[in-house]
Amino acid sequence: MKESVISGVGLGFRREIAESILTCEQGRPSFVEFAPENWMGLGGASRKVLDRVVERFPITCHGLSLSLGSPESLDWTFLRQLKAFFQEIPVHIYSEHLSYSKCDNAHLYDLLPIPFCEEAILHVAERIRQVQDFLGRQIAIENVSYYSSVRPEMDELSFLTAVLQESDCLLLLDVNNAYVNAFNHGYDAKGFIEKLPLHRVAYMHMAGHEQRFEDLIIDTHGNPIIDSVYALFEWTVGRLPRKVPVLLERDFNFDNFLQIQEELSALQKIVDKQWVRDEQSVYICC
Ligand SMILES: [Fe+2]
Repeated sequence: MKESVISGVGLGFRREIAESILTCEQGRPSFVEFAPENWMGLGGASRKVLDRVVERFPITCHGLSLSLGSPESLDWTFLRQLKAFFQEIPVHIYSEHLSYSKCDNAHLYDLLPIPFCEEAILHVAERIRQVQDFLGRQIAIENVSYYSSVRPEMDELSFLTAVLQESDCLLLLDVNNAYVNAFNHGYDAKGFIEKLPLHRVAYMHMAGHEQRFEDLIIDTHGNPIIDSVYALFEWTVGRLPRKVPVLLERDFNFDNFLQIQEELSALQKIVDKQWVRDEQSVYICC
């Protein structure tokens, strides 16, 4: 394990708020996260923006296209590009979704749930191990929001826990996703989180969601975080064995940057309150 320079509360780096993030003096995020696919191999004005980001912030990367659950072999061309990108700029945590987004060369443009079954555990764990071996680092996988499970042999908790153990990877715990899934599928979010291998949590996500129907909420990343998700976050932070960085995700509704900064501040207050007596360094295994 090596010490990470990342701590505190970061913000998803989006082009719509790039200048606000890069120039703000007050309410500045502690680090930024972006999808490597959106910035790798670019030159010109985009490269200049990336250089400014690298100069000013510690960075994490949250991938979109690894498609860990796909049946075909990994995209080694993409992985070679990714490895070169990570050699070029300092990326402290690389995370991906426990989902799939392509099949037989068809790109599905969504993060689809992997069937919760024994065969999928072995398949996905093997792919994660291949990625980790190739990149020479542990990756963190994220518990994704899902709206329908596909022929499940087990629940999400058993599936996620088995994948983590079998692949020896880290967990990106998205607290809002846990809340969304618990609400939509009728289980207890705290019960889900407390049974996870919390020693594997290297990183956390928080975001807003949208209630579409009385019995359905959608993980949109476009709304402010609601109080009950803040409460679940605080409860979760208090149970983690060590400090980890926390990322606020916002994918649209960027008009009010002040409101986004207020969310960063609210999350930082919770982190400071919960981890006030724990002055140990942040250790990330990647
Ligand atoms: Fe997330």
